[in-house]
Amino acid sequence: MTNQTDTVDIPVPEQSAAPLVDPSIDLEAEINRLRKEKNAVILAHYYQEPEIQDIADFVGDSLDLARKAAATEADMIAFCGVRFMAETAKILSPDKKVVLPDMEAGCSLEDSCPADEFARFREQHPDHIALTYINCSAEVKALTDIIVTSSNAEYIINQIPEDQPILFAPDRHLGGYIARKTGRKMTLWPGTCIVHERFSERELIKLKARHPDAPVAAHPECPDHILDLADHVGSTSSILKFVLGSDANTFIIATEPHIIHQMELAAPEKTFIGAPGADGNCNCNMCPFMALNTMEKLYLALRDEKPEIILPEDIRLKALKPLERMLEMSPPMATNRPTTDAPAMVS
Ligand code: 13P
Ligand code: SF4
Repeated sequence: MTNQTDTVDIPVPEQSAAPLVDPSIDLEAEINRLRKEKNAVILAHYYQEPEIQDIADFVGDSLDLARKAAATEADMIAFCGVRFMAETAKILSPDKKVVLPDMEAGCSLEDSCPADEFARFREQHPDHIALTYINCSAEVKALTDIIVTSSNAEYIINQIPEDQPILFAPDRHLGGYIARKTGRKMTLWPGTCIVHERFSERELIKLKARHPDAPVAAHPECPDHILDLADHVGSTSSILKFVLGSDANTFIIATEPHIIHQMELAAPEKTFIGAPGADGNCNCNMCPFMALNTMEKLYLALRDEKPEIILPEDIRLKALKPLERMLEMSPPMATNRPTTDAPAMVS
């Protein structure tokens, strides 16, 4: 299983076209009413559609969202992201009801790493410490030593003794990038993100030629040939921080394009171009899992208090340990990211 290059065939979900609720309902007003009535907090990832980002109490990256979920005093968390993020919220906040608008909102990285295969991977490398990207199931977290995100992976790996061999799963591109940056030898699981794999090197080179002054900012889930063309590589919050702090006027963004919504809100005078796929535009790089969550489904999740994240308590307790180690070993919040707090509806 060392540094393999084969990838698993991941089924991609599709959105149903039929309306789920009476189209005359004012979804925004109803969501606001329900979250107040139920003392719910709405947490959203940067890859959610703009309407969801705008109505959320907090928008952030995986690490920010885990921290917010751990600290919230709300009774319910409506998690607008993918399932591993909502599971993380439940692991950290077991007394809260955690709902995910669409339970099919998975992740190709999670799908690439079934728990039984991961257990065998660990057995084959008994002297290795297992650092696992947060994009995995609760069962895989339960088999892990330390969870990392793209915001803190390098920072955490630099705290591991140099002679300690490391297993890294499930994203081989993030693992490879961190191994190159830190000079650490890491044994990588062969998973990939189907979204970040779709950027086209050829089309990106053409786009850079048309915008020679535009820095390229890329997520480390991109393959090497895209990262080699980037001026900045980092998590979603790090990419946001980079473009807001830069003097440049135009940027090429090599990650899921819905993050551009936050960039346009914070810097309307700047121009953000999504990195292209093979067809020359960026639409093919939208995450089909994140896209399953809609305003309609968020409304239904708040109203019906489902689909709810339920985890077996033994798995939750085992998964909690590597998540707590992650939080202990992470950089302090203030130095890590810009906060994108939407107007708070609950305390
Ligand atoms: P971030 O932690 O950078 O938000 O990444 C999450 C993710 O799923 C990227 O595809
Ligand atoms: Fe998973 Fe990729 Fe979607 Fe992120 S963008 S949730 S890694 S499939």
